[in-house]
Amino acid sequence: CGIVGYVGPRESQDILLSGLARLEYRGYDSAGIAVIDRDGALGMRKKAGKLARLRETLEETPLAAGTTGIGHTRWATHGGPTDENAHPHLADDDKLAVIHNGIIENFSALRAELQAEGYSFRSQTDTEVAAVLLGREYRVAGGDLQAAFRAVVARLEGAFTLLAMHEDHPGLVVGARRNSPLVIGLGEGENFLGSDVAAFVEHTRRALAIGQDQIVAITPEGVTVTDFDGNVVEVEAFEVSWDAAAADKGGWSSFMAKEVAEEPDAVAKTVLGRVHDGQIVIPELDGMDELFQGVSRVIVLACGTAYYAGLVGKYALEQWARIPVDVELAHEFRYRDAIVGPDTLVVSISQSGETMDTLMAVKEAARLGAKTLSICNTQGATIPRESDAIVYTHAGPEVAVASTKAFVAQITALYLLALHVGRVRGALSAEVGVEAIEELEALPEKIQWILDNEQGRIEQLAHWMTDTRSVLFLGRHVGFPIALEGALKLKELSYIHAEGFAAGELKHGPIALIEPGQPVFVMVPSPRDGATLHSKVISNIEEIRARGARVIAVAEEGDAAVLPFADEVLRVPLAAPLFEPVLSVVPLHIFAMGLATAKGLDVDQPRNLAKSVTVE
Ligand code: G6P
Repeated sequence: CGIVGYVGPRESQDILLSGLARLEYRGYDSAGIAVIDRDGALGMRKKAGKLARLRETLEETPLAAGTTGIGHTRWATHGGPTDENAHPHLADDDKLAVIHNGIIENFSALRAELQAEGYSFRSQTDTEVAAVLLGREYRVAGGDLQAAFRAVVARLEGAFTLLAMHEDHPGLVVGARRNSPLVIGLGEGENFLGSDVAAFVEHTRRALAIGQDQIVAITPEGVTVTDFDGNVVEVEAFEVSWDAAAADKGGWSSFMAKEVAEEPDAVAKTVLGRVHDGQIVIPELDGMDELFQGVSRVIVLACGTAYYAGLVGKYALEQWARIPVDVELAHEFRYRDAIVGPDTLVVSISQSGETMDTLMAVKEAARLGAKTLSICNTQGATIPRESDAIVYTHAGPEVAVASTKAFVAQITALYLLALHVGRVRGALSAEVGVEAIEELEALPEKIQWILDNEQGRIEQLAHWMTDTRSVLFLGRHVGFPIALEGALKLKELSYIHAEGFAAGELKHGPIALIEPGQPVFVMVPSPRDGATLHSKVISNIEEIRARGARVIAVAEEGDAAVLPFADEVLRVPLAAPLFEPVLSVVPLHIFAMGLATAKGLDVDQPRNLAKSVTVE
């Protein structure tokens, strides 16, 4: 869910709505705002559906102007996406408004307790339980909202960010967080709260990162942060490195179109400043050489697209740094009896740095004694703050829900990490290192070549395939994770059944799916190096062609051997084998986007998804 809060001299509705528009990628099942108007009365509007529905509602039944407000955009967990279940939720005779992100695990016990005391509820949400509880504690605390917050957070189990304001206190918004995101934006005579900096970056780039289990109160004049016991704590200030324009759609038809076009830049900026004298040097990892020399294994943890980046990273880390690597879905790692200790380096990958599944897995790994390193695209996010080390990707803000430019940046960061660790461990020869850097630095231009030369053709192909009901993706070696990513992107964006397989696994089962006309994308490795892989994949193509599959090959420019076997060939420039994924994924991103667009779907906000899933 997305959360925004404002106190200051300006009309809060405008600020809340523009903040919510920038946060809508965090959930778009419903949206709502509450405002304390100039007469000190609290007004609220909320509506199921995307933010546009809330805007319509506000036009039909406007809220009185006011300068204190909170807003919410929801990704439904407890209770379906209805008007009643939308946030804010009101309590204390509708004088108190509360918004929430996360899941309150003991909400039914609390609800029963409150019902027994005569309180009633209007929704099915866990949030309303928190609101009613806050209303009760507010009375107990004699109208002290911060004290009421402290009493409430002591009763809540689970993960949450809560924001509240009360009619009796215009000019005050109070928030609390446990394992869910919340950051403060510092203005002149005004202050902001947001799930992430996108909520307020058009107004200020000065931000404060709030720690776990902290309560924050903002007024136009200032900010106080305390722990859950009320002790004042110091918080870390940072400057947001991108401006609002970077998170705007510009002239593009969608954020995704813009973000795919930014893939070359995402790679280039992630490499920038990390090559010195023909070596990869990651300044953020200064002082960690001993750690890298001492670890005997790496576990990569991530979810969704980031997990596939991790799978590519395994090949690089094992080849260059000679460390055994396991890659695991964070939520699967978290709830098994994993064998992890001080000799384990856990590398988490997360664009948002807030994915709850990943966060919980990182915490568990740390509890078990592992060292943790976060690859993340978002400054001030929770996962990097909870990790021993951080390597930021510099893809810039990614707004479309399905990840594209962050994915290529994540793979790039993993290359950098593998080369850095390989050098530190003495596993990488200077020569291999130098060649790798040349390859790395050439990637942005090669991605640009694909965008310039192949995009139109791929979109045309996607257009012809709008009636397709199922698409398969095959790959070997580093092409395998790309096959998985190609399938995921197509599912997410176009709702077409899609699956990725290891090409060698095909004959062990999935080949039964092949029937005449079945489209199959095949990631064809370069014929130059590791020619065996190339010929194995060609054999796999023959096996499916013999059964009527329609083969769309993603192959290196100049690979003539593939031509007789493919119905379509999508070209990518030459690259050393480990670097191929950053190129071969680009046509798949374009294809998924093209097909969804041709079907008239919203590529930025696919159904049922949210960009930053802050619940387990
Ligand atoms: C969600 C998004 C995916 C994303 C995944 C991991 O499920 O819909 O696009 O890959 O989260 O997100 P993260 O922010 O941790 O990279």
